Amino acid sequence: MVTLRTQVGIIGAGPAGLTLAHLLHLQGIESVVLERQSREHVETRVRAGVLEQGTVEILIGSGVGERLQREGLQHRGVQLRFDGKSHRIDFQELVGRSITVYAQQEVVKDLIAARIGYHEPIFFEAEATQVADFDAQPRVRYQQDGASHEIACDFIAGCDGFHGICRPAIPAAALKIHERHYPFAWLGILARVAPASEELIYTYHERGFALLSMRSPEVSRLYVQCDPGEDVNHWPDDRIWEELRTRMATRDGFVLKDGPILQKGITPMRSFVAEPMQAGRLFLLGDAAHIVPPTGAKGLNLAVADVRVLTRGLVEFYKSKKRDALQQYGERCLRRIWKAQRFSAWMTSMLHRFPNEDDFSHGIHLAELDYVTSSRAASTTLAENYVGLPFDTPGLF
Ligand code: FAD
Ligand code: DHB
Repeated sequence: MVTLRTQVGIIGAGPAGLTLAHLLHLQGIESVVLERQSREHVETRVRAGVLEQGTVEILIGSGVGERLQREGLQHRGVQLRFDGKSHRIDFQELVGRSITVYAQQEVVKDLIAARIGYHEPIFFEAEATQVADFDAQPRVRYQQDGASHEIACDFIAGCDGFHGICRPAIPAAALKIHERHYPFAWLGILARVAPASEELIYTYHERGFALLSMRSPEVSRLYVQCDPGEDVNHWPDDRIWEELRTRMATRDGFVLKDGPILQKGITPMRSFVAEPMQAGRLFLLGDAAHIVPPTGAKGLNLAVADVRVLTRGLVEFYKSKKRDALQQYGERCLRRIWKAQRFSAWMTSMLHRFPNEDDFSHGIHLAELDYVTSSRAASTTLAENYVGLPFDTPGLF
């Protein structure tokens, strides 16, 4: 078995692992990235699409934002739609910031291209099977081409998503898990049709939530609330378009054109936090440590925020051998994570229809939406959280 030696062993080439590898490289810190899927798989995996301004600034500031600046769609606000009417939340006017719609897989492509461009190690179809000795001399075992390999490193970054091996490697007694399941899911589609709106539309309707988003002037991304155990085969294309049209209809005749559906998938909804986010020299980042329901568009952004904090800690460690920032890693991240959890849970409950919801709850839903869209204070709260709360530590980029 060949043993590779590096400073940071990174498991997972999603947004967390790739951004971390990139920022560390710029600071002169070596890493090896292991990804169990193929490059093609991770570059075509359809997931999130909303980048907070802080995320955009990190990507541009670290030199991987060229295509993002060219192709990303900058949005100055979003629409909330209910009771047959749309109401605009103007982020730029309320909080002076905006968001950018740029698909997660495009961020992933840009980061992989950068890494390959400067010839740093990234192994695809290389599955980490074990993380060991993370209290002293961490090692990562992995399988590639049917053979076993090992990485010896100073630190392990568990960027391996919700179903990875890093979180389960921490003894259960050392982790506190906070979890909530929602009684609904999102059926998401990607369709070759021009977006019916320039801005995202979050809709609350008696039949359930619907969301209109986009990927480009020719491609729409849309979601409808469905049952969590739903089989995607029970949703033929016509049914999806009809449900979207019913939920998104307005009194002034909103028109939603359909087009070929390119991709379809169901995403369960959960809130999840594992505390603390570290054990010895093993750190958890992104979905490996926390999941938010997608309504607040925070998943990818939180992953990048964790990377920002860990990069700072590692830079401090390698420059001055100080461990303070590394020791505070989880605590620092969790302040932001819990606020994003709060916001995502609030948006989710405000915009979804719960099973067996009675007239009273429906009235409360409408009143809350009316309040949020008519009170400047309440709109500002939504805007401030949606564009991303300020970071409470200075960044390197
Ligand atoms: P991931 O992107 O999950 O990356 C983890 C990587 O680790 C993967 O590439 C995986 O293959 C790899 N890996 C796992 N185990 C191993 C191993 N043993 N060895 C090597 N590699 C391993 N957020 C939103 O805001 N809006 C959305 O619409 C939205 N939709 C989503 C749909 C789905 C199906 C999922 C799963 C998530 C969605 N999210 C969405 C959340 C958002 O995409 C995530 O928060 C984001 O991907 C987190 O990035 P990450 O790098 O932490 O994890
Ligand atoms: C998208 C996803 C989200 O979860 C969200 O809240 C807004 C937009 C998207 O995929 O475009």
